[in-house]
Amino acid sequence: MKKLLISFAVIGILISCGGSDDKKTESTDKKETAVEDLSKNPDYQKGLELIGGSDCLTCHKVDEPVTGPSYRDVANKYAAAGDTIVAHLAGKIINGGKGVWGEVYMTPHTGLSQEDAEAMVKYILLLKK
Ligand code: HEC
Repeated sequence: MKKLLISFAVIGILISCGGSDDKKTESTDKKETAVEDLSKNPDYQKGLELIGGSDCLTCHKVDEPVTGPSYRDVANKYAAAGDTIVAHLAGKIINGGKGVWGEVYMTPHTGLSQEDAEAMVKYILLLKK
């Protein structure tokens, strides 16, 4: 009888833990549906990883301008641009520059390969709304 009580208690704990976990994932799932779809895109994954490993986030955020424009603004600005924009923006990240968004200078990133810089641009351009 004692054993039975203990197993009921264990089952009870398992059920209550499982229940609250379900609720948690349910509510975050709803909020992040849009993000989740994007995160399945390999271009998004790769660019995000590279940007996380560089200094970009000290000057750029996704949704608000810091020293540089927000990535969303960059994506929206070039949403209608042709394919060559990826190589062009990658070159700008590597060489630095100013004048498109204002007079603040983006520092060059000469250690980046064209390929990695293009992967970063592809991620940024996916953020358009
Ligand atoms: C020191 C601050 C700083 C850092 C670090 C920085 N940026 Fe920038 N970025 C800027 C500024 C300022 C601009 C706006 C330049 C202009 O007006 O032409 C800019 C513009 C851009 C643009 C748009 C360029 C255009 O011509 O419209 C992209 C894309 C970009 N940055 C990506 C990146 C990526 C990716 C990294 C990391 C490898 C990075 N930035 C690191 C400050 C920075």
